[in-house]
Amino acid sequence: MNTTNNASTNTDPKSFYTEVTGAQFENVLNEDGTTYHFHPAWRCTGFADANHPRIPKRDANYVFEKGLLQDLLIFLMYPQGTALWVTGPTGCGKTSAIMQVASRLNWPVVDLTLNNRFEFTDLRGQWGLTQEEGQTSPTMKYIHNALPLAMRNGWILILNEADLASPGELSALNDVIEGRSLLIAEHRGEAIKPHPMFRLIVTANSAGSGDQTGLYQGVQEQNVAAMDRYRMLKVRYPSQGVEEGILQNVAPNIDATLRAKMCQFAQEMRLSFIGDKAMGGTISVPFSTRTLVNWASTAQFYTSEKNALRKSLQLFFLNKLSVEEAEAADSIALTIFGECWKD
Ligand SMILES: Nc1ncnc2c1ncn2[C@@H]1O[C@H](COP(=O)(O)OP(=O)(O)OP(=O)(O)O)[C@@H](O)[C@H]1O
Ligand SMILES: [Mg+2]
Repeated sequence: MNTTNNASTNTDPKSFYTEVTGAQFENVLNEDGTTYHFHPAWRCTGFADANHPRIPKRDANYVFEKGLLQDLLIFLMYPQGTALWVTGPTGCGKTSAIMQVASRLNWPVVDLTLNNRFEFTDLRGQWGLTQEEGQTSPTMKYIHNALPLAMRNGWILILNEADLASPGELSALNDVIEGRSLLIAEHRGEAIKPHPMFRLIVTANSAGSGDQTGLYQGVQEQNVAAMDRYRMLKVRYPSQGVEEGILQNVAPNIDATLRAKMCQFAQEMRLSFIGDKAMGGTISVPFSTRTLVNWASTAQFYTSEKNALRKSLQLFFLNKLSVEEAEAADSIALTIFGECWKD
């Protein structure tokens, strides 16, 4: 990774920024699960103020996959007039990866989840009645929403589930992505100039060309011209090695061999997933990293169960399947975990 940045040479005072070293990223793994070591000379730019209320909460257990971390850092340091579209299946770690990178760079974030009723004004702002402390009666005031706030202050704006929005509404971001000011005609033609550290990142289950899998209800095909302004980052479920690293941090009380088997089971379930038509799958619910983490971290509370892992797996996965699917998944678990699974 070789990501340096000259953002500190912009108009803001130098004390606004700080140099971030690889030491800020404590758990970075290569795809094979081995530890990635930053070059000691590696540096990138972060914010000096570590106490801003909008900095995402740091999760010390979070495990970065080196390739994804590199893609995110290069975008954040060198956006080159683009926004970032992060696509991937549910629960593979899209939103959390961005939040955890931001937390290590002290980069304030404003995040929203879009839906089919989303309108661009939800991002821009509107006139409304406000009453400040000490004011006797409310007055009409223009309320700036997430976009102007992020643009003016140099925050990251994250729009989750962006492909649920209608293409026309999302296209309204085109000018802003290209680095132009945001014009607010209804607020006396106000122009919000983008701060050099303003970034726009969207996450979605599709890549903007509609849902190819039939799994994600409500996904809308986006405008090609709007999509042309994004760089497209495809995230997959982490490799077995990386997921073993995640479980090691999330559930250290589970024996290492058992954790490895849980990750193996996750990989098997993905091979059996119906969305992966090439593999002739039989299971209709995706086995996400979220499921794996929930499975491992909840098992510890079922101390009175003979098979706590199975009980927890039922809650987060097996009970969501049809009877036939659950039987198929259960028998795969039996081959992986052995006779003790029957308890
Ligand atoms: N690398 C990781 N290290 C630790 N935990 C992880 C990691 N990746 C995913 N997780 C866990 O999985 C959960 C889901 O991740 P996240 O919300 O980032 O997924 P997503 O891809 O944004 O999902 P969706 O498409 O449903 O929005 C996280 O809250 C976290 O518990
Ligand atoms: Mg998400």
